[in-house]
Amino acid sequence: MKTAICYYSRHHGNTRKVLEAMAAGSEVDLIDVTDCHDIPWETYACIGFASGIYAFDVHPSVVDVFRQQLPSGTPVFFVYTYGGAKGRGAGQLEAAAREKGCPVLGAFRCKGYDTFGPFRLIGGIAKGRPNERDLAHARSFFQEVQTRLR
Ligand SMILES: Cc1cc2nc3c(=O)[nH]c(=O)nc-3n(C[C@H](O)[C@H](O)[C@H](O)COP(=O)(O)O)c2cc1C
Repeated sequence: MKTAICYYSRHHGNTRKVLEAMAAGSEVDLIDVTDCHDIPWETYACIGFASGIYAFDVHPSVVDVFRQQLPSGTPVFFVYTYGGAKGRGAGQLEAAAREKGCPVLGAFRCKGYDTFGPFRLIGGIAKGRPNERDLAHARSFFQEVQTRLR
């Protein structure tokens, strides 16, 4: 069975870049949360939820889809990118997983180029991230998630 990853990635496409590395060569559907209608969630073996960090948290739309649409008990994993201060990270998604009895197969995070607010004035932070090393780690993480499913 396939994997789906539901994501929000708008600042520089950093999170999407990580997901594309994970998906390469595997059966993965990448679902943009802003265009997420009638998804047959029950046809997937597991679902990833992914986002940049915006104001110390994942984007609320990803948490909303998790809470409102995901069938209870679905195995899940989390992915996020951040500029330098991850805040709650995947905390809200972890809480939602506990409430819905969804086994969490892991969480991956790495830095992502950030030009938000004053950081733009200095050319941004976390320049060049995610880099090749981050993407290699992302691929290994995803392989591990697949192994845990078996
Ligand atoms: C509105 C906004 C708020 C952000 N807030 C944070 C933050 O609180 N902590 C942090 O480390 N990075 C923050 N960032 C940086 C992003 O988390 C980082 O660039 C991330 O990789 C963006 O992912 P994306 O390109 O997939 O959207 C913020 C970026 C934006 C645009």
